[in-house]
Amino acid sequence: MPENYHSLGIKSSEITPKQAYLSRRDFMKAAGLAAGALTLAACAPSLMPAALPTATSSPASAAIGQKTDELGSKVNSFNDITNYNNYYEFTEDKAGVAPLAAGFKTSPWEVEVYGLVNNPMKYSLDDLIKKFQPAERIYRLRCVEAWSMVIPWVGFPLSKLLKEVDPKAEAKYVRFETITRPSEMPGEKNNLYPWPYQEGLRIDEAMNDLTLLATGMYGGELPAQNGGGMRLVVPWKYGFKSIKAVIKIELVTTQPTTMWSTIAPNEYGFYSNVNPQVDHPRWSQSTERRIGELSRQPTLMFNGYEKQVAALYTGMDLKANY
Ligand code: MTE
Repeated sequence: MPENYHSLGIKSSEITPKQAYLSRRDFMKAAGLAAGALTLAACAPSLMPAALPTATSSPASAAIGQKTDELGSKVNSFNDITNYNNYYEFTEDKAGVAPLAAGFKTSPWEVEVYGLVNNPMKYSLDDLIKKFQPAERIYRLRCVEAWSMVIPWVGFPLSKLLKEVDPKAEAKYVRFETITRPSEMPGEKNNLYPWPYQEGLRIDEAMNDLTLLATGMYGGELPAQNGGGMRLVVPWKYGFKSIKAVIKIELVTTQPTTMWSTIAPNEYGFYSNVNPQVDHPRWSQSTERRIGELSRQPTLMFNGYEKQVAALYTGMDLKANY
């Protein structure tokens, strides 16, 4: 849990003590191991959207679980958020990530920010937390596979970090890279994927106030399966843009290569903005299923963040720039 937790504006009655959080993790480890049925893989080019789990909520997570996003949708249970994960460095099996990630060391964590900047920096996660005062942000996460969740992240805007490193005028894009640690991440031994996982944003997208570097979740630390030490969260784009376990942030001139657009360029474009009018080549994107709910709901343009981000794409053909 971040030291400056009190700045998050969460009532002390809502805070999960670290002990409870850790024992809950142990519980989840056991629950994950017991779950026999495998779900299908995430963005795998050859697979269809996966089967979905039902919601459960532990008493310890009830306080945050009652919160809603700004549209009134309830936050998903801690159990759902930490046991239904896409994280190919561990496995393609959503329910299998949590048990495999249980031994992954998220501390100490270092992030390097470099490239076309005037002040290249190396930060520890603790430095970042002290400097940029993470706060709670409840965002919808819409996976390209047409399921979604509402997640209470704890993080700070990427723009704060970028202002500090001071991008040069030639810097037009930001490239992000996930840690490579095959001894702890068995999926990285799967040569079908061009590791490390990489993602990118245009610099104005990166500077948008919604773009978050998450250092925590559900009022506590960021669980390994959700991208701890630190991950990116870009709520108006499909979930795969929100790269986990970030260790490198590079400012560059040209549009960066991303892992999914390398594997299947016709299915996963650089922009990947949530758009109900542009279908995935193999399924519709017009509706989605909120994890824990039975019926489907309409997918919103830019995942409901149109007011904040539509201006970034004025004049662009969103079908061509999928
Ligand atoms: N980041 C890395 N490094 N590896 C991954 O496999 N999966 C992505 C994204 N970030 C992924 C990743 C996908 S497809 C989704 S939908 C989200 O993480 C899922 O985040 P969650 O497991 O925290 O819900």
